[in-house]
Amino acid sequence: MSAPREVVSHVDLETYYLRSFGCQMNDHDSERIAGLLEEMGLSRRKSPEEAGLLVYNTCSIREKADSRLAGHLGAASRLKKEDPSRVVVVAGCLAQSRRDEFFGDFPFVDVLVGPQSLHELPGLVRRRANEGGPVGAFQEQTTRWSADLPRTRVTGPSAWVQITAGCSNYCSYCIVPYVRGPEASRPAAEVLEEVTRLAGSGIREVTLLGQNVNAYGNEPDFAGKETFAGLLGQACQVRGIERVRFMTSHPKDVSDALVHLLGGHNQVCEHLHLPVQSGSDGILHAMRRGYDRAAYLGLARRLREAVPGLALTTDLIVAFPGETEADFAETLSLVEECRFDGAFTFVYSPRRRTAAAELPGRVAPEAAQSRMERLVEVVQRIGRERNEALVGQISEVMVERASRHERGEVMGRTRTHKPVNFVSTAGPGDFVLVELLEATSTSFRGRQVS
Ligand code: 5AD
Ligand code: SF4
Repeated sequence: MSAPREVVSHVDLETYYLRSFGCQMNDHDSERIAGLLEEMGLSRRKSPEEAGLLVYNTCSIREKADSRLAGHLGAASRLKKEDPSRVVVVAGCLAQSRRDEFFGDFPFVDVLVGPQSLHELPGLVRRRANEGGPVGAFQEQTTRWSADLPRTRVTGPSAWVQITAGCSNYCSYCIVPYVRGPEASRPAAEVLEEVTRLAGSGIREVTLLGQNVNAYGNEPDFAGKETFAGLLGQACQVRGIERVRFMTSHPKDVSDALVHLLGGHNQVCEHLHLPVQSGSDGILHAMRRGYDRAAYLGLARRLREAVPGLALTTDLIVAFPGETEADFAETLSLVEECRFDGAFTFVYSPRRRTAAAELPGRVAPEAAQSRMERLVEVVQRIGRERNEALVGQISEVMVERASRHERGEVMGRTRTHKPVNFVSTAGPGDFVLVELLEATSTSFRGRQVS
């Protein structure tokens, strides 16, 4: 439960700008950053030019994230020159992973705060305002849940609910365990209390969130005695919650109970994001994923049989150190065999402190690019084929928001998480039946029939 928070009343800042990079966990944390700042009395502005406090919630998963941030920080630096009373905050994973050199590289940054220390943000902002000098807070382990901090939610009928923090898998390419610490599970009672509260405020869909949700409750000192499938089952019982989703799953921890729940015609939606990363046994071993190609294919087959209509999506990395054309061909053939509904595709990016960063056999950028292009082509073709096969079906869609492009249209999602655009007067949180008329590799156009 949350400890009492300091009230910060004497900071001359009235407005803030917040920009979030990276994954859903960062979006979740950004809602908490906004909540903390609004509790301090600051109000949000849409552009950095209009704000006194500039916050960047950063990601460090791939190098690209670093370079994108650098552009934003350049703008922050110029704005601070214009008005030196501005305060620049860098939060999140990159703040944590680059803490030793950040102030040296970006001397105009005032506050650095790691993802396990967000609760310290109000105190840091006040210290910076009162005492000057750059200030920072970092901790390795999760001891205070950002989920317990005040939140300003992005409006809509769905909400994230954090169930685990950090990760203890140490896949050889991944920086997450080093910046977000070892895995920790949030007590089930707190998770369910939050789901109940959200349902009471009109939320219809929750996504249980963690780096590896299937390992929920696995740490030896976890007193909650709850498994992931157990928690998911309980979330389904909460009145008012029509859809339950979860992210992200690790293939080695998918239990029979979970497969059963997915196929059980209940609130758990028929969508599983199950990162495979590679189709080659040698590469999977070097990635330290804890399963081989045959095990993944077996699991995918079992899932498709047990869960009619399942959408299976994945993450794929090309050009991992030592990846040959033959290894890459194994990835292509695995994608063909699994017939993924969608995939996020990444070129391997060396991250410091990770084991893979030390491996020989870096793949040349041209080869990496060519593999990426070939992979995307296959992923898109299969996604399109799978969606085209659904044209003509009637699907239950939950409306999320008005369309950003067409007046009178709305965007909603199927239970399988596929976006559908259609003409409707329904509003966010409404459930309607929609005939699927046209498909792309990632979305549909439809016609409301109820
Ligand atoms: N390089 C490229 N992709 C990575 N991912 C994680 N670390 C790296 C890295 N160093 C990808 C994985 C993971 C997703 C969140 O990001 O595919 O599942
Ligand atoms: Fe990274 Fe592997 Fe943990 Fe995912 S499971 S966050 S890829 S270490």
